[in-house]
Amino acid sequence: MNADISEIEDPKKVRESIRKLLKERNAILLAHNYQPPEIQEIADICGDSLELSIKASQTDAEVIVFCGVHFMAETASILCPQKTILLPVANAGCPMADMITAEALIKKRKEMPNAVVISYVNTSAGVKAESDVCCTSANVIQVAHSVPPEKPIFMTPDRNLAQYALSRSGRDIRYWNGYCPIHNNLQVEQVLKVKSAHPGAPFLAHPECPPEILDLADEIKSTSGILAYAAHSDEKEFIIGTEVGILHPLKKANPEKKFFPADPAMSCPDMKKIGLPHIQLALEKLHPEVRVTEEIRVRAKAAVERMLAIPAK
Ligand code: 13P
Ligand code: SF4
Repeated sequence: MNADISEIEDPKKVRESIRKLLKERNAILLAHNYQPPEIQEIADICGDSLELSIKASQTDAEVIVFCGVHFMAETASILCPQKTILLPVANAGCPMADMITAEALIKKRKEMPNAVVISYVNTSAGVKAESDVCCTSANVIQVAHSVPPEKPIFMTPDRNLAQYALSRSGRDIRYWNGYCPIHNNLQVEQVLKVKSAHPGAPFLAHPECPPEILDLADEIKSTSGILAYAAHSDEKEFIIGTEVGILHPLKKANPEKKFFPADPAMSCPDMKKIGLPHIQLALEKLHPEVRVTEEIRVRAKAAVERMLAIPAK
């Protein structure tokens, strides 16, 4: 839960203090597209999980305040070990990333010795270190196509993302049985209800949604893909099938358009754990820090870099 900033200090004062601390610490604040509006508003950069880690590696700032969940801060640390990466609430995690461990993946690899292992960025650094290549929701098809055709693919942890990649790439893909509890819970009846209330509005869905939901989608896109599509489309109304935090940047960037959540209950509790006072405290104390041990980092970085070397289209 967000800390109630009104009980702690005047929100305006907290915001001013954060801006001052960011300067003093030579720090930047990154926020994922699912973060609460007040966090996105104070952030230097908002974006999807991978975009933010790449930005983190490109900045001259010494300290990165990562407002998102643990695997994202870890990915930033994998790419830029010389920087201090702060995750203002240490236990902001991702239940889907926690559905596979490095030990379980090592065991799986023994069962499928020929398989190329593709891990979603929503995994721990330990899992990335045991993987051949990473993928995101934006590039999963290109990553699947980059695997030599004679090789089977094992994808982890998201079964929905894997089934989407399987249906679009035609590749032999086996997968782990993980899922995002927020996207996986979206129901067909609910989507049909919102569709009938807004006939003609395109339904934009994230590939973490289950196959029966993706069958109803007009476009299947990552969070950055949904933002780009809505900005360039001539349509005036959209139904959004992903975490509700994205409604803030969608509405802000497109004030003349309307956005309807496929289900307003699609809120990720971990993405809402960080409040402004946590950011202030993290900058004061330079804590909690996320750092990956060098042995794991080097191997995890190789999987991330193999993905980054694959052309986007
Ligand atoms: P993207 O922003 O990479 O699409 O990720 C979605 C997500 O669920 C992050 O937790
Ligand atoms: Fe993880 Fe789903 Fe929350 Fe994203 S929305 S952080 S995948 S639980």
